[in-house]
Amino acid sequence: MSPPDPYILGYRQAEQDRLERQALELADESNWLFDQIGVSDGWRVVEVGCGPRGCLDLLSSRVGAKGRVVGVERSSEQAETAHRFVTEHHLSNVEVLDADARSTSLATGTFDLATARLVLVNVPEPRQIVAEMVRFVRPGGFVALHEPDATFQRCEPPHPAQTRLLQLLDIYAKANGIDREIGLKVPGMLREAGIVDVHVHPMVHLYPLGHGRRMLVLDFVENARGRLIENGVVGQDDLDALTAALGRHLEDPATLVVSSLFIQAWGRVPA
Ligand SMILES: C[S@@+](CC[C@H](N)C(=O)[O-])C[C@H]1O[C@@H](n2cnc3c(N)ncnc32)[C@H](O)[C@@H]1O
Repeated sequence: MSPPDPYILGYRQAEQDRLERQALELADESNWLFDQIGVSDGWRVVEVGCGPRGCLDLLSSRVGAKGRVVGVERSSEQAETAHRFVTEHHLSNVEVLDADARSTSLATGTFDLATARLVLVNVPEPRQIVAEMVRFVRPGGFVALHEPDATFQRCEPPHPAQTRLLQLLDIYAKANGIDREIGLKVPGMLREAGIVDVHVHPMVHLYPLGHGRRMLVLDFVENARGRLIENGVVGQDDLDALTAALGRHLEDPATLVVSSLFIQAWGRVPA
């Protein structure tokens, strides 16, 4: 029997819907990254952990009919949604592999770019995924990561319920070998994996009232709710009280909500 999947965000439908919205919310910053790298006509690109949509459409239009985009997604439900998205949008240069990014069947040294967005922060053994990305990129090709340090999340005025809920997510993460601070570490991880010419771009956002990501801490807690309670990290009544209190605080337009620190880091496989 395989061990339980510790992926922190889980696979409930509300999370899939959130990921579809996220693909639109983050499109501009991913496009900025692909501009820096120069992703263009004819490139062969892999997006690891593409979820239901990820950057597949952005990459498809950049690489054109002569290019190729492969999405790798371990959740069968999300891979299925990504398949549907690709078919409905006639992205004929895109295929989706329902596979674990730690060990894909992709041929060694054959892609121009491997990219992952908000994947490593949610999984144990992230270095295995980076090593696999480096393996299937050609000499001179690029590996690009976009990951948060989730411990930077703040609201002003601060609220004890937010502090406590972030602690609970960290307890679950640490118990499962998941590093929620990974954003700041990804440039070093790329270098350790042999990547050269590493560039780093930090980003912090404000999430005003009505912004789709303002309630992210609550969304993540709901994703992990069952596991937090089953593993004895918190009791149901305490969790209900904490989420209600934070909900009220975040619904106050005067509360300033500041994102994680996001890091985009990219470089080349030595030629
Ligand atoms: C937070 S979502 C981000 C989705 C997409 N990259 C985006 O930015 O919109 C992380 C995705 O990585 C996938 N994932 C996690 N571990 C994986 C693995 N070992 N191999 C492939 N996909 C994985 C999850 O199933 C999920 O769809």
